[in-house]
Amino acid sequence: MAGRLFLPVAIPRACAGNPPDAEASHVQPMMKTNTASPAATMDTYSTPTSHSHFDGVDLQQLAERIATPFHAYSASAIRQRIGELQSALAGLDAGICFAVKANSNLAILQLMAQAGVGADIVSVGELRRALNAGIPAERIVFSGVGKSADEIAGALNVGIMRFNVESLDELHTLQRLAKTQEVTARAAVRINPDVDAQTHAKISTGKSENKFGVSIDEARRWFASRKRLSHVQLDGLHVHIGSQILSVEPFRLALQRVAAFWRELEQAGHPINSIDVGGGLGVCYRAGVDKPVAASDYVGVIREALADYRGKLLLEPGRYLVAEAGVLLTRVIRVKPGVERSFLVLDAAMNDLQRPSLYDAWHDIVPVTDAPRPMTTYDIVGPVCETGDTFARGRELPECEAGELLLIKATGAYGTSMASTYNSRPLAAEVLLNQGRYAVVRRRQHFEEMIAGEQPARNWETP
Ligand code: LLP
Repeated sequence: MAGRLFLPVAIPRACAGNPPDAEASHVQPMMKTNTASPAATMDTYSTPTSHSHFDGVDLQQLAERIATPFHAYSASAIRQRIGELQSALAGLDAGICFAVKANSNLAILQLMAQAGVGADIVSVGELRRALNAGIPAERIVFSGVGKSADEIAGALNVGIMRFNVESLDELHTLQRLAKTQEVTARAAVRINPDVDAQTHAKISTGKSENKFGVSIDEARRWFASRKRLSHVQLDGLHVHIGSQILSVEPFRLALQRVAAFWRELEQAGHPINSIDVGGGLGVCYRAGVDKPVAASDYVGVIREALADYRGKLLLEPGRYLVAEAGVLLTRVIRVKPGVERSFLVLDAAMNDLQRPSLYDAWHDIVPVTDAPRPMTTYDIVGPVCETGDTFARGRELPECEAGELLLIKATGAYGTSMASTYNSRPLAAEVLLNQGRYAVVRRRQHFEEMIAGEQPARNWETP
């Protein structure tokens, strides 16, 4: 593939840097006409003058065809990330289970299926999406602290690979339901290793004060009485300490604790056939500031901590595979000079991308055209009626005018999957780009779809 026109798409390691919607199945050519070259890809995002193309697609032309705001994903960049991780894992008996919550669009899941990637799910909705996209049940793991009995039964019914169990009550429910279905469930204990992931408090999961997993002491008791579980094969360990982790140290510490526990269990006669190391690998949201860990370094830590482990390894990356492969295209509705600050009001809002409102997350924002202009400082906001609808405060940007097309970068993970219709704004379209062509993989929601299921209170009943 390396010699092909638009491949490989290098995602910069150091991070330097109202027309009608098309039909979902419609693939449109949109080749760069003049100097098509590898420069027309994501790697060129490191320079300030090269945001006009993404995966070979001219973004101005694309925005003439698809109404903004919309999300665009580079299939090449996603394949590239999968490939990087798979190469780093070479020689290990390891499986990648994409954390579906990061981006649950069926077309993205299909890319995962085609690359042999499985799924880490947290609901029956995600299970159905994964199966629908062609990810086989035997490549699906089920995580989450609040799996309902119905969800557990549904996952047992299709024969998923493994349950990552987070409480004794869940373990007993799994045993009961597996017995009813006369099947044996394979299960891993999610260990809470009490490690600080050094990330945002709202996405830290591996401290003992967090709701996730159980302590090693509790897990030890589960294994000691595992023989009583007639329909659960408790032979796995799972750990996930948080998300957007930018240092190997928290991973190292967590895995050392898991490895020590695995050795103890083996000596006590409890074979561990699978160790799931979770997700959490961080990406670059802020050029020149965020320094993500390379896949090879991350896998190096896994190799080191579990050097003598011979069972199956599972990884649950979400953000790493898709975040930097996505952008949110949006137009400036107007520039509004305020008393103290100047506001750039976009047609995208917090309902399209919640991360800045929810976690004060930084996303690089750039104009698509590279016309030289003086720089100025804006608060970049959406039209939603609350101050929290702010993408960036005091951000330096080339002077913009109404109608200007902007890119909000690295929105491929936890963008659309967390979107809402707040302020009765329809869900935005999603477009997959691939080497100069695009396909709409979710059309913009119609008003009728948005209100489907709502009805006047006509039939009053007593419970
Ligand atoms: N495995 C488990 C059990 C998880 O809970 C998660 C994410 C992952 C894997 C994938 O983590 P990743 O590789 O994507 O870091 N909405 C937040 C992120 C929430 C992450 C929740 N769990 C955000 O936008 O930053």
